[in-house]
Amino acid sequence: TKIAVLVSGRGSNLQSVIDNIESGYIRDAEIKVVISDVGDAYALERARKHGIPAVFTDPLSFENKPAFELEILKTLKEHNIDLILLAGYMRIVGKEIISAYPNRIINIHPALLPAFKGLHAQQQAFKYGVKVSGCTVHFVDEGMDTGPIIIQKCVPVLEDDTADTLAARILEQEHKIFPEAVKLFAEGKLKVEGRIVVHT
Ligand code: GRF
Repeated sequence: TKIAVLVSGRGSNLQSVIDNIESGYIRDAEIKVVISDVGDAYALERARKHGIPAVFTDPLSFENKPAFELEILKTLKEHNIDLILLAGYMRIVGKEIISAYPNRIINIHPALLPAFKGLHAQQQAFKYGVKVSGCTVHFVDEGMDTGPIIIQKCVPVLEDDTADTLAARILEQEHKIFPEAVKLFAEGKLKVEGRIVVHT
């Protein structure tokens, strides 16, 4: 499985995939390229440290979103990518990319979907006062955080939590289920039947 990882920031989920490939937990998979829409994203640094091509594609240098996405598609094609990971990529992926990679784009979201979609999900959950939250790995469709769910993991919200301590507890689980989903995909064990993802 030839993987591209799209990032915008610190890249700890990217790191968890790199580490789990290097350790042999994820087999028959290779990260061919990391693409960022933010020039100084630390994720790019992490990629370079592991000898992975790291590409900054600047959205501001394109006239519109389709043009920006076509450039990313070009990079994906160059590397013969068959799986795209969104690891803290802060943009909504548009039609151009989604239609080229149906059920081949996986996102990690820091809440139990369909609750708390969108930005700052941990803070949304904390402020809402839920007593459990967690994280979700899912295939990406044209909606925002709406695609078929692959794995979820829950964590408790504790009495003395802040949004930040909750986010840290969730992140720990993200670093487990994101690589687990990649492993299942690479082994051909995920079958999408409508909204339902069957683990075969
Ligand atoms: C994570 O919380 C992820 O769930 C969300 O964005 C954050 C990215 O963190 N989509 P990192 O860049 O992987 O460290």
